[in-house]
Amino acid sequence: MAKDLVDPVDELRQNTAQPFERAHAMPPSVYTSDAFLKEELEHVFSKDWFCVGRSDSLANAGDYTTCELAGQPILVIRDRDGELRALSNVCLHRMSTLLHGRGTARSIVCPYHAWTYNLDGSLRGAPAMTLNEGFCKDQYQLPKVRCEEWLGWVFVTLSEDVPPVATQLAQVEDMVAGYDMTNYAETFYEEHVWDTNWKVLAENFMESYHLPVCHAGTIGGLSKLEDMVCPPGLPAFNYHTILKDDQLRIAMAHPSNDRLKGEERRTTFLLAIYPSLMITLTPGYFWYLSLHPKGPGQVHIRFGGGMSDDYADDADAQKNFEALKTLLDEVNVEDRGCTEKVYNGLCSDRAVPGHLSHLERPNYDFAQYLMAKIEQGRAAASL
Ligand code: FES
Ligand SMILES: [Fe+2]
Repeated sequence: MAKDLVDPVDELRQNTAQPFERAHAMPPSVYTSDAFLKEELEHVFSKDWFCVGRSDSLANAGDYTTCELAGQPILVIRDRDGELRALSNVCLHRMSTLLHGRGTARSIVCPYHAWTYNLDGSLRGAPAMTLNEGFCKDQYQLPKVRCEEWLGWVFVTLSEDVPPVATQLAQVEDMVAGYDMTNYAETFYEEHVWDTNWKVLAENFMESYHLPVCHAGTIGGLSKLEDMVCPPGLPAFNYHTILKDDQLRIAMAHPSNDRLKGEERRTTFLLAIYPSLMITLTPGYFWYLSLHPKGPGQVHIRFGGGMSDDYADDADAQKNFEALKTLLDEVNVEDRGCTEKVYNGLCSDRAVPGHLSHLERPNYDFAQYLMAKIEQGRAAASL
């Protein structure tokens, strides 16, 4: 059958029907086809939680960030009463988008004709509207979007039905309780676009199998395949752990940290919160990627990170963190190279998925999650 006649959802269904012991990588069409992207936007990104960043970067009244979730422009802003609100980022006049990027605003002013909204989304005023007899400013309110904070993370969703973040991620909360993730402070935040499918980058994060080779120039030598543990995933996330040693001191628990015991003190968790929040959590620092597709062949990346509060008072905290950021940037250059090469390969007529290693257990679980969300979404749509 010609390649474009194959239904990528059928291909994924066959792929995910295999037990892990016989599993293959996902078929190329789920990465390269517009048809599969449409399914993902409709049944995955519109139906689950999406992370827009860290709460401490939106600490003060008027601090905002924006995103486009499954085609819907959304703004998230701290109100004057301290509440974080997510609102439609579309003006109620002639429908321009309102805020862009991140920043701080006293009010939400449309860049087109200056209709001006309060931080709660109610319309404060609009120039030269008094002669329209039907216009009543009190009738205008930017539509609200669900927004939740959890361990310092800020999530939004377009779904009315998805359970609260804290319910979905209760096991994560238990598992990393000793890290006290709420008290990690974001010290950098950037946005990037890479030329690869979002799942290639997500899957790259989910396995540390590639570390010794792809990262031979940076952290490869620190990472032993035998020290990687990849347990089966849970419905809303997967994870694996690696052990670090004191070649990277700030990856170790700070001497003042008495919450973490034994091996935990040098354990790094790699958490993949479905669909697209990837967190590297070490006892001393964290960094994350929150991914959103931008067409099949491009991914929009929200990239941030920072330190645990144990390190904040150290005299050399800033110097250590700058060195870490330099290292993360170098590691990202390597990951960008590998994931863009994978996308090139996936676009080949001769691309054929091979078997997965036991170190790619999280990738298998991710494919199961995607398939389940698409089946659920399709079933609900056909009711
Ligand atoms: S479109 Fe926003 S003020 Fe006109
Ligand atoms: Fe990597």
